[in-house]
Amino acid sequence: MKTDDKKNNTLKETNISQDSHYTGSGNPVSRRFFLHSAGIGAIALGLQQFGCSSSKKAIQQQSVIPPVQGFERAAYDQEVSKSWVPFSDRKVRVGIAGYGYCKFGADFGFQKHPNVEIAAVTDLFPDRCAGLAKACGCSKTYPSFEELVKDDSIEAVFIATDAASHFKHATMALQHGMHVASAVPAVFGSLEDAEKLFEAVKSSGLKYMMFETSHFREDNYSMRKIYETGGLGKIVYSEGEYFHYMPEPLPSFKDWRVGLPPQWYPTHSNAYHICVTGGSFTEVSCIGVTGIVSHLQASNNRYKNPFGTEIAQFRTDDGGVSRMGVSWDTPGDGGERGRVRGQRGTFYGRYEGLEKNLPDLNRPALPPGVPPGGHGGSHGYLMNEFVTSIIQDRKPLVNIAMALNLTVAGIVAHQSAMKNGELIKIPQYKI
Ligand SMILES: NC(=O)c1ccc[n+]([C@@H]2O[C@H](COP(=O)([O-])OP(=O)(O)OC[C@H]3O[C@@H](n4cnc5c(N)ncnc54)[C@H](O)[C@@H]3O)[C@@H](O)[C@H]2O)c1
Repeated sequence: MKTDDKKNNTLKETNISQDSHYTGSGNPVSRRFFLHSAGIGAIALGLQQFGCSSSKKAIQQQSVIPPVQGFERAAYDQEVSKSWVPFSDRKVRVGIAGYGYCKFGADFGFQKHPNVEIAAVTDLFPDRCAGLAKACGCSKTYPSFEELVKDDSIEAVFIATDAASHFKHATMALQHGMHVASAVPAVFGSLEDAEKLFEAVKSSGLKYMMFETSHFREDNYSMRKIYETGGLGKIVYSEGEYFHYMPEPLPSFKDWRVGLPPQWYPTHSNAYHICVTGGSFTEVSCIGVTGIVSHLQASNNRYKNPFGTEIAQFRTDDGGVSRMGVSWDTPGDGGERGRVRGQRGTFYGRYEGLEKNLPDLNRPALPPGVPPGGHGGSHGYLMNEFVTSIIQDRKPLVNIAMALNLTVAGIVAHQSAMKNGELIKIPQYKI
């Protein structure tokens, strides 16, 4: 570990332990630590999910509490770069927008990637814009995204603005000929926007990737690799949760989190089926539960949302069933996680099943200096995948179809909840 990284980790841990808001069970222990110390059967994932561990080190690390759920950082292990092979001298000129409460614009490591030059950054608040510029080592700033997209030297943008603006900003960037990486969700509560974004990406021929952090969590990655190589068989049942207690909403631009319908933020849980199989949900019945949290009362929010918890039951495109829950109003255990049951095996924190020869479950190598980062060490992988897909001119993972299948299923789930669980068909996206 470099001295700076050590220092940063110490600072983060200091901040983290002072905050009492977080109620989740994030566990920053790296796969390599576990593979080295306990073998594959004891991967941290199960420990993360069930909040128990026989490892002293794991117990100590579980007490590291991030200021925002999911902001636990995977330990930076230089091993992760050992097998990375430089494949191009090209530098993609990237523009970054958004340095709000989560400081997401600088958190995926674009500024550390050898194939990236940060061309410009923006945030509407001058102090945030300056903070983002400093964090990215970039001298060029614009006062708004609308100004940034006029800079035709920029090839790609990372949109880390508020969720309600993702659709607008993504389509604007595509119109200006820029590849798009977007924070979740792809669109905000609107099926019409989903259709428009789908058409905009398809007709542009440009890359679009949604940075769904669960996609590169270690357990989700393992499930996907085992599924792809047949070790799980057909998935009969999957389940996932995004449980994040917010008695007061996190501070947000124009208060977009106040009263947020839980299933309008469905991608972290839905990833525990859709990112594993690459499939989709075809219909849903969702039950919403009215709670006691003030901003989640219909009369207290702009969405007229009466629910603090929404639990959806989906039919999957290959005939299975999935249960995906999002809850803002239940304190205690929390996190972004899931499990799958297939005809050849299960993954509940670890693989158990008929397959004896599992594939390599280590996530791909990252360029030197690019940390895996937050949300289970997913940030660096998502960013690297986006940049690589541009240089290699191929479809990125979590492409527009997957992004919308993840997002739109939740929008329809909320519609179902508002109709007392009515079974509703879900639009399907394929490219
Ligand atoms: N695990 C995850 O994937 C995860 C976790 C946290 C946040 N997020 C997503 O990251 C995004 C950012 O989260 P946040 O909490 O920092 O949001 P936020 O609401 O606090 O901040 C949004 C920022 O965008 C800026 N912005 C809005 N419109 C702009 C424009 N036209 N030009 C320039 N800047 C503009 C605002 O000034 C603000 O600083 C959200 O979309 C959220 O959904 C994802």
